[in-house]
Amino acid sequence: MERLKKQYKYELARFEVQKNNIKRLWNIPQTTAELLYTFIKIKLPKHILEIGTSNGFSTFWLSLAAETCGADVDTIEIDESRFKLAKKNLVNRNNVIQRLGKAELIIPELTGKYDFVFIDAGKINYINYIELLQNKLSNNAIIVADNVISHKNTVKEYLDYIESSKLFDSVTLNLDSGLNVAIYNNKKE
Ligand SMILES: C[S@@+](CC[C@H](N)C(=O)[O-])C[C@H]1O[C@@H](n2cnc3c(N)ncnc32)[C@H](O)[C@@H]1O
Repeated sequence: MERLKKQYKYELARFEVQKNNIKRLWNIPQTTAELLYTFIKIKLPKHILEIGTSNGFSTFWLSLAAETCGADVDTIEIDESRFKLAKKNLVNRNNVIQRLGKAELIIPELTGKYDFVFIDAGKINYINYIELLQNKLSNNAIIVADNVISHKNTVKEYLDYIESSKLFDSVTLNLDSGLNVAIYNNKKE
């Protein structure tokens, strides 16, 4: 990742300044960003969905990875000021489609199937997102959910569901805020 960090040092420096000066951006840590990048390079998805753009830091890393495999990134943000800030930060990222609004209302409107999803919005709503997403996932889609350790009580319903459903195989990684990585398999009986 050092080469990438050098190549995009101005963009990444801007995110760092915003993180230090603007409250409530809640950007993922660098290690999580690099892990998402790595997962995408392994999975080679075509359509990526992010729920919770904030100012676009995680979106930036998803977009860099997406570029290597010709994928696009849909990203949803409910807060207009963060949406606008992300728009500026992502101005040169041609593979990103930003959507402003409540994920619960936008997800049902999305067409096509996603093969990589990053969930990082309202923790209490994770369970709603996964329910709404089910007919939008391709077989063997990867779903990464952030904050499953830092907010383990709030996301309990999500984790209980993912861990007990026959449709998913998942593992929780004790990295940064805790990441649950699930694989969707709709061919299971
Ligand atoms: C943890 S931050 C996302 C951080 C971002 N993924 C990053 O690492 O740069 C969560 C974001 O989700 C947004 N959000 C919360 N509830 C939402 C909802 N129901 N629909 C869409 N976005 C939502 C918040 O406004 C906030 O900007």
